[in-house]
Amino acid sequence: MQIGPHELTPYLPGMPILTLAPMAGVGNWVFRLICARLGARMVGVEFINCRTIAEHSRRADRLLDFCDAHIYDQTGISLLAAQIYGNDLDLIAAGAQEFERRGAQIVDINFGCSVPLILRKGCGAAYLLDLDRLYRAVRQTVEAVKVPVIVKTRIGWDQDAINILEVVRRVEDAGAKAIGIHARTVVQKYQGQADWDWIARAREVATIPVLGNGDVFCYEDALRMQAHTGCQAVMIGRAAMANPWIFAGRRGASLRERIELAVEQVRLMGQYKGERTGVMETRKHLALYFKGLPRTSDLRLRILRAEGLNQLVEVLEEWARSLAADEEADLTLSAAEAAALGWGSTG
Ligand SMILES: Cc1cc2nc3c(=O)[nH]c(=O)nc-3n(C[C@H](O)[C@H](O)[C@H](O)COP(=O)(O)O)c2cc1C
Repeated sequence: MQIGPHELTPYLPGMPILTLAPMAGVGNWVFRLICARLGARMVGVEFINCRTIAEHSRRADRLLDFCDAHIYDQTGISLLAAQIYGNDLDLIAAGAQEFERRGAQIVDINFGCSVPLILRKGCGAAYLLDLDRLYRAVRQTVEAVKVPVIVKTRIGWDQDAINILEVVRRVEDAGAKAIGIHARTVVQKYQGQADWDWIARAREVATIPVLGNGDVFCYEDALRMQAHTGCQAVMIGRAAMANPWIFAGRRGASLRERIELAVEQVRLMGQYKGERTGVMETRKHLALYFKGLPRTSDLRLRILRAEGLNQLVEVLEEWARSLAADEEADLTLSAAEAAALGWGSTG
């Protein structure tokens, strides 16, 4: 798959190209790097408001920390796609230039967020109601940067207003180099099922690569999505939080591998966000990595209760030492589990 000057290839021959979907509160450099190393060929950044970029605040600086992009430049293992959203076309173009200055290899514009507050402000998926404005946002951004611009969107506003095929045409005309499609309507948010037929139809008319997205809960789902739709890449969101090994085509990982990854993630998150926030924000991943494992409830509690970074690392390392042999367990996440975890308030 070609995105501007970048050629993306599968992690292993015969695999679909898999990418990490942009996720607010999740797609920081630590998690991006983990996914890239495990085989994600493009990694999404949590979306950033174009006004936040202009603020030059500490928060903005942290969101704009693209230190992993330099690693991708040097190693070629992945590409960083930094995502912007907003309602001011000049600020979106200026923000894209800032992304480029900070090393992003790709700029992604969010036309898919269905959060009411964001829609009310004319951001995210609100653009699906005005394709001329959507066209101008893409065009102006394409003209502002040298790196390729891609977009991520949904299939339409609601079941009676599915306009993804028109969106594909408009973003292509405006110069976008790929399109990510979450196969739900805006009104659906995360309910019901993603309708992959629309990804297939979009793929038929598109001259740019289509990244299919929605309801890929395990590697086999990714294979099924590609076979069903012909999409050039499969973009994975929620499943990657529980199972970043999905990018290597795996159902899960041994307990030892999971503990080792958890230790690394906690340590890096401590560096990135400071001890307190770092530990807190890694907990949602840890709860998923160790979900459903037998005989772990006591340990689980200790992990969840550990306050400091060192204490948490100690618990994990002690656990690793106590393992007699690697234990395999299935980390596949069902749709019902994803719903039970309350995901879907963003994006
Ligand atoms: C916690 C969370 C945060 C998200 N944040 C974003 C975001 O910042 N930008 C975006 O385009 N989509 C965002 N999304 C949507 C995902 O990128 C993806 O489209 C959606 O989860 C469907 O894919 P999945 O079934 O593989 O999870 C978010 C989803 C979740 C669960």
